[in-house]
Amino acid sequence: MADPVVLQLTRLRVKNFRSIRDLDLELGPLTVLVGPNGSGKSNVVDALRFVRDCFSIGLEQALLDRGGLAAVRFWTAGGRAADVALGVCLADETGENSAEYSFTLAAAKGNGFRIKREELVVKVPGEQVAKVALDASGLATTRGGKKKLQKTELLAQKIVPIRLIGPMSLDMQFDRMMSSGKEEERRWRVHERIAWPMQTVLTRMLFYALNLTDLRAPQKLVQENPFKEDGQNLAAVLQHLLRNKARATELRQTLRRLVVGCVDISVETTGSFLVTYLHYQDASGKNRKSDLGLESDGTIRALGALAALFQNNQNSGSREMKPKPFLALEEPETNIHPGMLGVLAELFAEASTGGKQILLTTHSPDLLDFLPPESFRVVEKVDGETRVGALANSQIEIVRQHLFTPGELLRAEGLHRQPAPAETAPDQPAPAA
Ligand SMILES: Nc1ncnc2c1ncn2[C@@H]1O[C@H](COP(=O)(O)OP(=O)(O)O)[C@@H](O)[C@H]1O
Ligand SMILES: [Mg+2]
Repeated sequence: MADPVVLQLTRLRVKNFRSIRDLDLELGPLTVLVGPNGSGKSNVVDALRFVRDCFSIGLEQALLDRGGLAAVRFWTAGGRAADVALGVCLADETGENSAEYSFTLAAAKGNGFRIKREELVVKVPGEQVAKVALDASGLATTRGGKKKLQKTELLAQKIVPIRLIGPMSLDMQFDRMMSSGKEEERRWRVHERIAWPMQTVLTRMLFYALNLTDLRAPQKLVQENPFKEDGQNLAAVLQHLLRNKARATELRQTLRRLVVGCVDISVETTGSFLVTYLHYQDASGKNRKSDLGLESDGTIRALGALAALFQNNQNSGSREMKPKPFLALEEPETNIHPGMLGVLAELFAEASTGGKQILLTTHSPDLLDFLPPESFRVVEKVDGETRVGALANSQIEIVRQHLFTPGELLRAEGLHRQPAPAETAPDQPAPAA
């Protein structure tokens, strides 16, 4: 039996979400968003996190957590409410199996919203392209509560009106849609092979925003999988890693490279708490251990990055398809000495070739110097809009010829974005405000 093919995110499409008016971003095994403060890097990451939240906690809650649709919608000049659209593409390496999921949100009365369009297009070898779309009878949430909107026509023949978005609803909907006897085989192919792995990738994406205070304090004995986005279970993750001989060795070796003088790490149980210790040797060669309460911010953040990368968050897959774990880390260089960033960058690159998909944001020249320039996506704000593109060909060439490193270019002239073809074409008439 052949190995399962690996499904990963390949594109993110965004319209009118925060500072992003129109974005079509290609995502590789490693994608590095580079740009100044306020250019919109976190907004791009949040667009993807929003999709994750929609699938895991539901659309209503995902919007509430962000202050409602009005707060996430791009500020239009004329004040007219623009629709927010988000889309993700997932595919295997060859592109033979793929899924494109997208939805559009429109404003409804009283700071409410409605799903204007929702669509899933799946491609599986030997199958017709299966297209599933939502009709406009989805629930609208208004200040007065939920009400059913009028049903409008289906987009095309063979399109099943369903609502996909929401916790685990994809599974349920696929069951409902294709559970009749003769459709069983088809359901299996489309669902097992693409729709289910897609949902797994999307719901298990992890977005790290580590909280130093939480990382530092003794931690409760809690589940070790996955490493929580605020870092609250760092000790449990580390304890779990240290129980595995190979992983423990890897962790110890990396830590020695990252933290000067550190010779070992241990996690000890005190009552119902876990305490993480780093071990050092003093001048007389004696072993001294210090808990994380005494450690520097940079050391703790580096440990957080290690936990995120080394954790065992492999997604279980089907016989045919394996969903690749996805991790986003914002500005992983924070508090870390430039000399150590090479080691960290190496770990990101390794993780991205070793079965995980990684998204980073950074404005650190020292980190960039150790990352492949092909993975850079230059983020800038132009006329109040976030634009994202690959590193300009001219600068990639300079780096390839070893004339300058990416970090040197960033310091000297800034990194330039390869303009999208549409941007170099004659100006399009501006949409009426
Ligand atoms: N709804 C919105 N419409 C337009 N711009 C927005 C909206 N929400 C936030 N912004 C802008 O996005 C910018 C912040 O982007 P952010 O992603 O945090 O930047 P970065 O992470 O690159 O530092 C700010 O300039 C803010 O004004
Ligand atoms: Mg940011």
